[in-house]
Parts: sequence; C-alpha cells; structure tokens
Amino acid sequence: MSKRKDLVAEGSQRLDKNLDTLEKYQAYIEDLYNVKSSLTRKDFINKTGWKEFVPVVDDDAARFLQLILQMKKPKHILEIGTSIGFSATSMALTAREYGGTITTIEFDNTAAVQARRNFERSGVDNIIEILFGDACQIVPSFSDDTFDFIFQDADKRLYPDLLKDCIRILKPGGVFVADDALFPVMELDPKWNNLVKPMSKFNRLVAEAPNLESTLLPIGDGMIVAIKK
Ligand SMILES: C[S@@+](CC[C@H](N)C(=O)[O-])C[C@H]1O[C@@H](n2cnc3c(N)ncnc32)[C@H](O)[C@@H]1O
Repeated sequence: MSKRKDLVAEGSQRLDKNLDTLEKYQAYIEDLYNVKSSLTRKDFINKTGWKEFVPVVDDDAARFLQLILQMKKPKHILEIGTSIGFSATSMALTAREYGGTITTIEFDNTAAVQARRNFERSGVDNIIEILFGDACQIVPSFSDDTFDFIFQDADKRLYPDLLKDCIRILKPGGVFVADDALFPVMELDPKWNNLVKPMSKFNRLVAEAPNLESTLLPIGDGMIVAIKK
C-alpha cells in the first residue's frame, strides 16, 4: 500500500504522524536542491506585484517538469492555466535550451498581464505565447497531433471534459502531465471539496484510457503523467 493511501486508511493520530513525515520529506528535498535552484516559487511570487493569484506549482513539481522537458525535448508545449506564469517560466528556461516553444492559456486578465511581465523579467517572453481566453473553447480549436507536451493545470472541474481533446491534440509519443492528481486523498480546505469528484473522475479516465500509458507520482499535490501511444 502506498504512503498516500495509508494516509486515508489509518486513524487520525497515525494520519498526523504521516503528514509530519511527508513534511519532513518535502523539507529534505527542498533543502537538497536549495543551492542549485535558479528559480524558486517563493522568489517568483515575491517579485510578482499582484498577490491575489491562483496558486502555482510547488518547486519539486517545477523541477519535475523541467526534467521531463530535458529528457523528451518537446518542441511544441501547451500549458492550460497560466496564473502568474511560474510553471511556464520554469519550463521555458529549459525549453529555450533546445528550441522549444510554449503556448499557455489563461482567462483571467490580471493573471495574464502579470504572467507577461514575469516572462519579460525572466527573459523568456520570446518563446511563450499567452492565449487569452477560455480553455474550454481554445483547446477544442487546436488540430489533431499539434503538441509534443501538454501540462494541464487549470480549474480541476474542467479536467475530465477536456481530456479527450488533450489526447487528440497530443502527438503520438507526446507527454501529458496534470497537476493536483492527489486531491482525492489529500486533507483539503473544505472550500476545495467540489474539486475532489472531478479529479477522481479524471484520474480514473486517464488510468483506464486505452491510448495512454500513465502513472501518478506523489510530487507536489500529485502529478499524473501519461504518454500517448
Ligand atoms: C493553478 S493555476 C495555474 C498555475 C500555473 N500553472 C503555475 O504553476 O504557475 C490555474 C489557472 O487556470 C486559470 N483557469 C481556470 N479555468 C480556466 C479556463 N476555463 N480557461 C483558462 N484559464 C483558466 C485560472 O485563472 C488560474 O490562473
């Protein structure tokens, strides 16, 4: 049984102990990479003037995205959900090394403006295009087999509905990553309870999709990673 499954199956005392252990793991990992990190979530947020943004990925999730990009060198990258542009900037720092480009979708105007400023500040604006609008309209408008890599990080309630199109617009051999996949077993603030059901549905759809090979990794809030067959 995995550690995360353990967390929900055991009593609350055990749960607290396990959460302490997870925090210890996380602190150890962050400490390990502290020296090498050129871009950190904390720094990025501090340099962003606007504070009301929707949360961005954790540092370990950003590192994981960079690692996959380094391994696969995807040319055309799609991100769904930009916020202030932390994950896009992080991916762009790797993608520019091999000539990759990023298209990122955001429907909140303030977030998109902040993201653009952050891209300029980090010197990656030349390889990132922000598509301003609703992902529910933009994603279905792309042609089949357009992207080599897709990172899904928008409203969790959209994940199940957009999955079919995400697979359609991903090239065979392309990689699909979605954040927050462990929401169904995490101790979430009750205000996020409405995200659990769609996330559970989405995880099951990915796990059972005949044209995907996937696994769910306990990185950040959980990342489901799939390759299109
Ligand atoms: C979790 S944040 C993205 C964080 C970002 N990927 C990062 O780690 O730096 C999700 C973003 O998706 C945007 N979003 C949610 N639903 C959307 C939709 N239907 N179309 C476009 N953007 C959407 C939100 O406004 C929010 O900024």
